[in-house]
Order: sequence, then structure tokens, then C-alpha cells
Amino acid sequence: MSLNSITVGIDRISFSTSQYYIDLRTLAENVGTCAQKYYQGLRQQKMSVTPPNEDIVTLAANAAQTIVATEPNKHIGILLLGTESSIDQSKSAGVYVHRLLGLSKYCRVVELKQACYSGTAGLLMACDFVRQNPDQSALVIATDIARYERNTPAEPTQGSGAVAMLVSANPKILEIAGTTSAYVDDVMDFWRPNYRREPLVDGKYSTNVYLDALQKCWERFKQLSELSLNDYYSLLFHVPFCKMAHKALNKLAENESVDEKKFSAFQNKIEQAIQYNTIVGNCYTASLYLSLLSLLENAEESLAKKRIGLFSYGSGCTAEFFTGVVQEGYHQYLYRDMHQKHLSERIELNYEQYVKMHDHHVNAKDNAFVPTGDYSVGSFAFVGINSHQRHYQAVDEVEYAYAG
Ligand code: CAA
Repeated sequence: MSLNSITVGIDRISFSTSQYYIDLRTLAENVGTCAQKYYQGLRQQKMSVTPPNEDIVTLAANAAQTIVATEPNKHIGILLLGTESSIDQSKSAGVYVHRLLGLSKYCRVVELKQACYSGTAGLLMACDFVRQNPDQSALVIATDIARYERNTPAEPTQGSGAVAMLVSANPKILEIAGTTSAYVDDVMDFWRPNYRREPLVDGKYSTNVYLDALQKCWERFKQLSELSLNDYYSLLFHVPFCKMAHKALNKLAENESVDEKKFSAFQNKIEQAIQYNTIVGNCYTASLYLSLLSLLENAEESLAKKRIGLFSYGSGCTAEFFTGVVQEGYHQYLYRDMHQKHLSERIELNYEQYVKMHDHHVNAKDNAFVPTGDYSVGSFAFVGINSHQRHYQAVDEVEYAYAG
């Protein structure tokens, strides 16, 4: 059997975000902006805000734990963690996650970086791994905290979250096709030097570079695949803010012959695909996959056998367009109720609480501890740093609460 004849793709997909959010109306009132600019202009309603004892490790472990618990017999041979809010220059955040999840010691673990694109790098590498090792699975986790400086244009486009995907042979949810088109260009639209907590971003320029990279990937993909716009049921895009997905669709339609009915169907699918993003906000590497999850869990009709196009963009920049076909019976393998409960039970912050959480910077110093009872988290907590080592625990195993 040739490697290309093995069907690989997303076998399970799960998501987690912080327990807190701020409504963008509250933000708008306090920074002196019209709420409609955020609600209509950016198409964002709420954004997740992370407390001090939540970070990319706890978000990632929370996202993946359901998959690991419900699929105990899958042999996970590799864990690929994509992030651009890294917590260490050397040690992979995936190693902490691996321990928290209790995975087999016989597993490769690595962290990947290329802005919002690295989750996609992980997913496509995972597919290649499974093609080579069809009896094993790969766990891919895209996890990020999108945090910008307050009182900047980027402030309403923050958020946080992690999406975990189990990649296996004969996947239950989305078969990923082999043909992809990648594009790279050395540009400075968004970056975070090692000495900074928040990234620097040239906002308007970044949206133009994103759209240009989309066009380049799309043109190349057409040459490689012979598919046209009409062959897709829906198109999903990296979602730094939800309006961007519509801008991306408009860009593709500019140079394509697509009739009004099909275009409006694409718009309608985007609405279903941004339902989660609009109340979570940007979660960088996880945003495209949160959008995929949103479509899978909120589509008004069955997606079985439908072809989806996915565009991943990471500033700096690397982008890639690829496609997947939704599998028959996929809906039985989703964790829809759990995700919707998680989202609906989040705690709303007022502006002062948001500012306090945003500005809290436990990572800045050694011997900084987070009182574990002060904030609500999922199943895992970041409890503090001592001797320059980060400490994580399962919440039900936390035996002590540090004094702040
Ligand atoms: N009612 C309705 N709409 C309004 C409005 C009102 N009262 N006031 C303004 N608007 C509309 C504007 O017309 C505009 O719409 P269009 O884009 O369709 O023209 C929209 O609201 C935004 O308004 P501005 O252009 O004035 O926005 P801004 O200058 O305040 O900043 C931003 C917008 C540049 C996206 C900024 O939020 C930002 O820098 N965000 C971070 C960077 C980013 O997300 N870039 C995306 C590409 S890079 C990437 O994708 C990687 C990543 O994840 C970061």
C-alpha cells in the first residue's frame, strides 16, 4: 500500500478557553469608542481574558484532556504543540502538557513556532507522521493567549484558547488531503521580540499582507489541484477578528467567477464558522481550528462528504491553503455539548477586573506564586515560579495555596 493511499486527518477535536470574558460593549464604554465599531466593524462581541493561573500549558491540557480520556486506546506517538505565546525559550510547553495528561513516556514532544501558522504546521506534520506510522496517532495542540497593550487599536482583538486535535488513520471527522500550497515572505506585520510580553503589530499593513498571502496561496493551489471555488462547500480562514474572514472571502471572490447564490452560501457558512470566535476572540494558532470546530458544531445541515478549504496565516509571514473532506457520521464524535456548556458558563468581568487581570504579570519574576483559590480555572492550574521553574498541577491535586 502506498503512503498516499492511507486516509489521514482529524479523528477528534476539542477546545478550551479561559473561564473569564469581557463584553466588548464594556471595553468600548471605558475606552471611549462606539460599541458598534467592535460589534459590526470587527464583528467581535466578547473576548476571553486569562487569569494569572492560566497559561498556554493549562489551556492546552484542558483542551486535550477529553480526547485523551475518551480515546485511551490510541497510541499517541507524537505531541506537536503550536504556539506564539511561548513560556520558555528552551523547554517545550508540550512537555508539561504531556505530563499533565499522563501520556506514554515513549512519545516525541516538540513545540513549533511561526506565529499563528504553527498549529497548521503541526497538523500537516502530524498527517505525514500518521501516513508513515498508521498504527499510531498524533496529538496536535494549538494554544495561545492573544494579549495586546491596552489602549491600542489591537486591544479589542485579544482572546485566548486552545484546540486539540487527534490525528489518526481512517479519521472520524475530517480527512485531510495531501495537496497544499504554502507561501512565505519576510515581512514585519506582527512580531514579539524576546524581551517583550506584548507583540508589536502594524495592524492595517498586517491585514493587507494576510490578504496578499491568501491570494498567492489560492492561485498556486488552483494550479496544483484543479479545484475551483465552486468545488467547495465552505471556506475557512484564520480569524484574528471575525470581520477578517469576510474580508478574505471577498478577496477570493474578486478574481473568480462565483455566482451570487454560491457567494451568499459561503457567507452563510462563515457566519456558522465564526460563532465561537466572535465570543472567544483571537487565539492565534488555534483560531482557524476554533472556526472549523464552530462550523462542525453549529452547521444547520449535515456536513458529511462536504469539501472544506482552510487558509492558515501566520504573520511574519507563512501561509498555507489546504483542504479536507468531512467524514460520514462525524457528528457522533464531537464534544458539542461540553464546548457549549464551557462557553456559556464563563464569568463576565467588569472593566476594572479586566484591567487587573490583563496587567497581572506573574511571569516577570522568580518566586512569584498564584493563590490557587483566587481564580477559576479548568482542570489544571499554573501555580507559580520558584527557582526559575514553572509549576503546574491538576486542580484536584493542589495541596497548597501559595500566599501572593
Ligand atoms: N460602526 C460600525 N463600524 C465601524 C465603526 C462604527 N461606529 N467605526 C469603525 N467601523 C469599522 C471600520 O469602517 C472598519 O471596517 P472595515 O475594515 O470593513 O473598513 C472597522 O470598523 C475597523 O475600524 P478601523 O479600521 O478604524 O480599525 P482600527 O484602526 O481601530 O484597527 C485593526 C483595526 C487594524 C484590525 C486592529 O484591531 C489591529 O491592529 N488588530 C491586530 C492585528 C490583526 O488582527 N491583524 C490581522 C491580520 S494579521 C493576523 O491575522 C495574525 C494575527 O492573528 C494577529
